[in-house]
Amino acid sequence: MLVAPSILSADFGKLNEEIKAICDGGCDLIHVDVMDGHFVPNMTIGPVVVGPVAKAATKPLDIHLMVEDNSFFIDLYAPLKPEYISFHIESEKHPHRVIQKLRGLGIKPAIVLNPHSTPESIEYLLEDLDMVLLMSVNPGFGGQKFIPSVIEKAAKLKELINKRNPNCLIEVDGGVNDKNIHDLKEAGVDVVVAGSYVYGSSDYSKAIKSLQV
Ligand code: DX5
Ligand code: ZN
Repeated sequence: MLVAPSILSADFGKLNEEIKAICDGGCDLIHVDVMDGHFVPNMTIGPVVVGPVAKAATKPLDIHLMVEDNSFFIDLYAPLKPEYISFHIESEKHPHRVIQKLRGLGIKPAIVLNPHSTPESIEYLLEDLDMVLLMSVNPGFGGQKFIPSVIEKAAKLKELINKRNPNCLIEVDGGVNDKNIHDLKEAGVDVVVAGSYVYGSSDYSKAIKSLQV
């Protein structure tokens, strides 16, 4: 299991140290939550902050857009050369066009599904994707409770992925901890995001390793 700590739960007063600590602690990716105050009822950080994060990082960035205007935000973050940019299917009228745009920029495209969205809704996009991100909380805030139905959804998505594009990864985001990690693994999940579980612990490295099952 790959682990992507979410910096949403980091101490922004000492962000450089917080980034270094998860990289040295053995994380696989750095999850960056971008919110616009419209698609979700919260706002986070812009490129002025994510730029220095990218500089401090020794692991690739996994940027999660929770915004209405995906194309605008992709243009803002593409210069930082993230490994993945994921966008919500619920906020995009032309997902295939956005995927092509990301490919053209050399960024791996990923689509995010909110808790109510079905894997079948993106079946015909799977062959063009590098990853699907399943939300296991309602997007907008860290520290929420895990929604268990995501486990069944991940297993269903895995079947579709095996049929359409076995190289596509499944990522789960929200409320992930050492209690649900084994069920997620069993359902076929490849990557987990963990914000409060990692940054709320006294030993980041130990927390990260406990999820690398
Ligand atoms: C929620 C974000 C998550 C959040 C996860 O909108 O997408 O990435 O930081 O935080 P935890 O792991 O605390 O649920
Ligand atoms: Zn996220």
